[in-house]
Amino acid sequence: MLRGGLLVVIATSVALTAAVETDSLKELLKNLELRYSTDVLEDASLNVTELITKYRYPLEVHSVTTEDGYILEMHRIPHGRDANNNPNKKRPAVFLMHGLLTSSADMVIMGPGTGLAYILAEEGFDVWMGNARGNTYSRKHVNPDFVSNLAYWRFSWDEIGRLDLPAMIDHALKKSGQERLHYIGHSQGTTTFFVMGSMRPEYNKKIISMHALAPVAYMAHNRSPLLMFISPHANNIESLANLFGVGEFLTNNAIYSMAGQAMCRDEVVFQPLCSNILFLIAGWNEQEHNATTLPIILGHAPAGVSLRQLAHYGQGIAGNEFRRYDQGSRLSNYRVYGSFKPPRYDLSKITTPVFLHYSDTDKFAHVNDVDRLFRELGRPIGKFRIPLASFSHVDFLYGINSRELLFNRVINLIRAMDANAFDDE
Ligand SMILES: *[C@@H]1O[C@H](CO)[C@@H](O)[C@H](O)[C@H]1NC(C)=O
Ligand SMILES: *[C@@H]1O[C@H](CO)[C@@H](O)[C@H](O)[C@H]1NC(C)=O
Repeated sequence: MLRGGLLVVIATSVALTAAVETDSLKELLKNLELRYSTDVLEDASLNVTELITKYRYPLEVHSVTTEDGYILEMHRIPHGRDANNNPNKKRPAVFLMHGLLTSSADMVIMGPGTGLAYILAEEGFDVWMGNARGNTYSRKHVNPDFVSNLAYWRFSWDEIGRLDLPAMIDHALKKSGQERLHYIGHSQGTTTFFVMGSMRPEYNKKIISMHALAPVAYMAHNRSPLLMFISPHANNIESLANLFGVGEFLTNNAIYSMAGQAMCRDEVVFQPLCSNILFLIAGWNEQEHNATTLPIILGHAPAGVSLRQLAHYGQGIAGNEFRRYDQGSRLSNYRVYGSFKPPRYDLSKITTPVFLHYSDTDKFAHVNDVDRLFRELGRPIGKFRIPLASFSHVDFLYGINSRELLFNRVINLIRAMDANAFDDE
């Protein structure tokens, strides 16, 4: 009886990856071979370490093990490209955390001059990029057999925030010989920070400042096409698994086309986008995307996600609260949390100074939800609207004008906070 129950739970904790997209990507690349330079096509097929090396930036690859045995890969660009840079000089460390379905690739695929990691390195920072469990770079475990076990995928962004972030931040601090660092997160990379700051509050003092790009905690106004579609099923992982299909791959094309119709209009030139789960979740803005780099984006996302990550967000839409993962029944919640409802994340415990950067038309981080988050955080310092109404959820990292619209401000804030950091205590 007990064993049967366990099997059901394990069998429904499935991995979602890129089967559908891979085919459409290949087709897209084939059709566009003439339009794109070989450089862009090459970047689409290089992984993060190869990309950073190709563009001649210094790179370190670090391996970090979490307390529950997941092995994560971090990428570090310790300084800029200029050979006259003194590599031993101490630079303020900045930790970058990617969003749902992506990886550290988000910080570099736009290339030198536009990609956030390269810009920060040139501006004098020691850049550390995290990778959440389950993505392309962090699909390992101390017990190698466990990786092919469906139980490997029994995590949501709760585990990424409670276990992955603390392990990676401690590692970055130790290796860079610093006591504190700055944190920049995008989307789920902000959610996981809020989880860490409320569940492991001792980490707040290790972060000088936190910059949330497209902050996601409350989801009541979320307009993500795919998440809205799954939200009514989000408390029942079995029925979600039935919708999506169980196994290594997302198999249900019907879901893609349904959610895709909700998003894709006739004027979208690149129809394969309508079936890329990243854009199904985040939305699409033709004005700000550099169509030239589209193959590179599609070559790196999606990078792997667990069904529970999606379900946990779906629960936030349905429940209008920022809570821990709902195990599906009052009894299971009681067993895990000691209460029938999953506990709320207590945002007031987050004492790190936080800056929120948001946009008017972000489907995933709605202005009203961002306002509520700002009111409830323990130490909110600033809230900044991107001065371009059409700026979408993925533009925060993929936009062609992100440096002018966003990164310069973040860098100025980091410098100001860094200068203050040590008078403060
Ligand atoms: C990325 O490429 C490097 C160099 O080819 C290779 O050693 C590494 O295993 C690759 N990483 C992943 C996650 O595929
Ligand atoms: C778009 O990306 C391509 C390839 O990286 C680059 O050459 C081009 O300058 C970019 N265009 C804009 C407007 O940023």
